[in-house]
Amino acid sequence: MIKLPKIIGHRGACGYAPENTLVSIQTAHDMGVEWVELDVKLTADDVPIICHDDNLLRTTGMDADVKDVSYSAIRELDAGSWFADSFVGEQIPTLEDAVELITELGMGLNLELKPCPGREIETAQIALDHMTRMWDDHNNILVSSFSEIALENAADMLGGDWAIGYLFNDTPENWKDMAKHLGASTININGNHDDLKREFIEDIIDEGYGILAYTINNPMRARELITWGVDGVFTDEPDVMRDELYALN
Ligand code: G3P
Ligand code: MG
Repeated sequence: MIKLPKIIGHRGACGYAPENTLVSIQTAHDMGVEWVELDVKLTADDVPIICHDDNLLRTTGMDADVKDVSYSAIRELDAGSWFADSFVGEQIPTLEDAVELITELGMGLNLELKPCPGREIETAQIALDHMTRMWDDHNNILVSSFSEIALENAADMLGGDWAIGYLFNDTPENWKDMAKHLGASTININGNHDDLKREFIEDIIDEGYGILAYTINNPMRARELITWGVDGVFTDEPDVMRDELYALN
């Protein structure tokens, strides 16, 4: 099992910089966190880019789905000004751009496969084809997804060499079978669910999986989850979480 970080910067440090951009990764690093989580999807011409939403409107102003737009058109978009004027001109990075920076900074990565609907198989295959050529250290990479199809393809390609995170919101009834089928190392849960019980965390631990919880911005909640046995949390505000959690052993 890879050594899981206590804090993972969500989409970089998206409380302080435009999500899923290079400046967001750099900001997370500057705040002292060791890992970031980024979402990857494919453009119309199969370039893996770092972007959360299927549609580009919220973060760039262009009302079109990523799967229908070429990389050259996406490169022209401003993915920073929606967040703050100081980020005007920030671009949507390719997976390659992001990995280059993360490697230079010596950080770990949770790459979330976030396919546009219908593109589950290609997203896993193309993104991981790029990744396996670019990424050397098997101890600081976790590949996750809400898409079971994407994860099955990832598991086939990675053959147990890299850790897989089984990500869900509502707990699937068959989560134990599916986690086993996928060869998952971690279960990545919604840490804000009102009905999340300590017993569920203990059940996951008993099954032998690591646990990561998204997206926790309340330090007291993070402390509670860690006390229950959660290994680490995704957060938009790594500095706040760092002050709370680095004090814990
Ligand atoms: O991977 C954790 C978290 O990023 C999952 O939710 O919607 O922010 O990708 P979302
Ligand atoms: Mg994500």
